Amino acid sequence: MTIATVTHTYQPRGAAKQLLENRAPEILLSGPAGTGKSRACLEKLHLQALKYPGMRALIVRKTQVSLGSTALVTWREHVAKEALAHGEVRWYGGSQQEAAQYRYRNGSTITVGGMDKATKIMSSEYDVCFVQEAIELIEDDWEAITTRLRNGRLPYQQLMADTNPAQPTHWLKQRCDRGATRFLESRHEDNPIYFTDAGTMTEAGRAYIEGKLDKLTGVRYLRLRKGLWVAAEGLIYEGWDPALHLVDRFPIPDAWPRWWSVDFGYTHPFVLQNWAEDPDGRLFLYREIFHTRRLVEDHAKQILSIVTEPVPGVAQLEDEPLATAIAHGRRRWIEPPPRAVICDHDAEGRATLQKHLGMSTVPANKKVLAGLQAGQSRLKVAGDGRPRLAILRDSVVERDQQLVDDKRPACTAEEIPGYVWAVKPGGQLKEEPVKDQDDGCDALRYVVAHRDLRGRPNIRWM
Ligand SMILES: Nc1ncnc2c1ncn2[C@@H]1O[C@H](COP(=O)(O)OP(=O)(O)OP(=O)(O)O)[C@@H](O)[C@H]1O
Ligand SMILES: [Mg+2]
Repeated sequence: MTIATVTHTYQPRGAAKQLLENRAPEILLSGPAGTGKSRACLEKLHLQALKYPGMRALIVRKTQVSLGSTALVTWREHVAKEALAHGEVRWYGGSQQEAAQYRYRNGSTITVGGMDKATKIMSSEYDVCFVQEAIELIEDDWEAITTRLRNGRLPYQQLMADTNPAQPTHWLKQRCDRGATRFLESRHEDNPIYFTDAGTMTEAGRAYIEGKLDKLTGVRYLRLRKGLWVAAEGLIYEGWDPALHLVDRFPIPDAWPRWWSVDFGYTHPFVLQNWAEDPDGRLFLYREIFHTRRLVEDHAKQILSIVTEPVPGVAQLEDEPLATAIAHGRRRWIEPPPRAVICDHDAEGRATLQKHLGMSTVPANKKVLAGLQAGQSRLKVAGDGRPRLAILRDSVVERDQQLVDDKRPACTAEEIPGYVWAVKPGGQLKEEPVKDQDDGCDALRYVVAHRDLRGRPNIRWM
């Protein structure tokens, strides 16, 4: 018999160390970007799985899709790397009924899933759970998880979570403030990649903290660099509430008209949004391209490859532009074509886009303030208890890694909480937005203006 010794090193500091030792039933590791929060939670799970045979844990995020790209990478590459290599832990991909999970040789399991696929994960009982980016959850999600924590293989149960800060009125912060959840403040100094034991910044720390985080502005700087639970000042869409305006994906009926809106950009993101309008006039953003450093023709190609397919039985011509293939009946639409493609005023961008989409476009309504006001009123909850505009989760076609690495918004929903009024030198707010990180919000305004500002007389007050 051979007994392999698997060595794994992890040295926690500060809040990460406290997390490892703490047995509070609910605990939150809060802090700016990159302090080692997720790593600490994952290390704790791995340690528990090894120490308590038969333990059941859950790693969860708001949506299945968002989980894949983040927590599991750290898990595979750092936390469970050696154990996976030695077969101590194996990956089980899941089935229709069963959620995916890591299975340990000693019988412990770590299930992974999204709250959007709750039936798969919530039918089991667990000893511990790690919620990643917990601000994305609603409090009902959180409480539902607490009811699943009763497997009894550990001397205690724990719901642990990590997050970057949000507004101070967020339910999660309030939950900590009233003592229901233990609050731990994680700092960059806790991460040995960025700070030495003696507390000096490493080269990687300078590259990340000074090179990236110090370049952030506004509320993103305060939250992601400083770790503060603050509200943005001068928010344009004050009524934006992810619990109301971010909704789970659903199949959109073919009968709902579609609208596309476009904001051109190259160093700034190019944004192309696909909207559907329900019979009551509510607008739903269900897909968007949100990407920097690509040509308009490549964006056109990408969107056409998603909304059309080759006609079965019809020969396809190699290298034929998609717009031409559609025009000649070699490709067909798999969702309704847009009634209008509403674009910002960049003449060259519009001409190029029209050519490569094979569609005409219309210029967006230029009345910025009226468009913003129309957007604000759409966010209000109507008499039927629902707002008149919503974004489906995970609508972005491909997350732009450069934006993600730079901690800049990588989709419209991430832009809105930092979309603010410009400030005059005297400190008063201007009647126009700050013209940065506004690309998704511009496209949103174009579609709203197109639907809501039609035919309104252009009255000037003298
Ligand atoms: N104690 C440690 N030893 C070695 N590497 C660490 C340690 N803590 C964190 N790291 C590494 O630092 C990087 C950032 O850590 P992590 O992803 O956990 O940060 P985070 O606080 O969750 O960031 P975010 O706020 O962006 O989600 C990862 O590559 C992680 O492996
Ligand atoms: Mg993290």
